[in-house]
Order: sequence, then C-alpha cells, then structure tokens
Amino acid sequence: MLSEKIQTAINQQINEEIFSAYIYLAMAAEADRLGLPGFSNWFKLQYQEELGHADRFFNYVLERNGEVDLLPIQKPEIGGESALSLFEKALAHERHITGCISNLKDLAMSESDHATDVFLEWFVNEQVEEEANAQLVIDQLRLIDGNPNGLFMIDRELANRTISSEA
Ligand code: FEO
Repeated sequence: MLSEKIQTAINQQINEEIFSAYIYLAMAAEADRLGLPGFSNWFKLQYQEELGHADRFFNYVLERNGEVDLLPIQKPEIGGESALSLFEKALAHERHITGCISNLKDLAMSESDHATDVFLEWFVNEQVEEEANAQLVIDQLRLIDGNPNGLFMIDRELANRTISSEA
C-alpha cells in the first residue's frame, strides 16, 4: 500500500513524464520544420521513451494497489528554435526531471518506503543517461559552430537512433 503522500507525488511524476513526451513531440515537429529529419527522429524516439517512463510509474501505482490520478498536461513552449536551442531546452528539462526524481527519492526515504526507494533507482540511473545524451549533442553543435556541413553530419548520426528496449 502506498502512502497518500507518495501516491500523490508519483501521480504528479506520471504527469511530468507525459509532459516530457509532449515537449519532445513538439521538438520533433520543430526539427522537421528546420529540415532536420535526423533530429526529428531523435526527438520522436525520446517522446516514446518518456511515454515508457510514464508507463513505469503508472504500472507501479497499480502494482502497489494505489489509485492513478491523471492530471492535465500543459502546453509545451516550443517555437522559433535552432537545433542548439532545442537541445539546450531538452537538457534544462532533463535537469528539472532529475530534480523531481531526487525529491521523490527523498520522500520515499523519509516515509521509509523501501519498495518505492528501490523502484526509483532505475530512474536515478536513467537521468544520468538522459542528461549525458542531451549534453553530447550540445557539445557537438557547439563544436561545429553553425557550420552547415557539420549540422548535416550530426543530423545523419541522429537519424540512426533506435528505440532502447530498456526505456
Ligand atoms: Fe523521463 Fe527524460 O526523463
């Protein structure tokens, strides 16, 4: 049985993950508008990963005999972006999510909910990867410094991303 506090916090996190999916879907559309199909592919796969994260929290609430409460999803603020600004926003958002996961973990520990604490370990590790993935592309974009050939090469590389079975 989940405590009321933990159940509310996890339902909020389901919302955060679906909002993350929504942001990445908007980014996929924006990248397509910029003529960058590889970037668009990367964001579309990230959108699917985020839905997978929401699903993990959703299933966990049900497994613990809790109640799922689906909250309204806010509109993502994406528009007039460059490839670099999209990834800078992605990294800022992932840092926000890392903070949410840390707060959840603190709550699980303060409530002595060991099952939730262990469940959250996967997300702690996942956030390290999420931030590193966004940072890598930012570093590459800064290296090429707006060079169109470089941008074309990064786009081709991002087109190769496939969905991870772990996500
Ligand atoms: Fe679900 Fe990208 O954090």
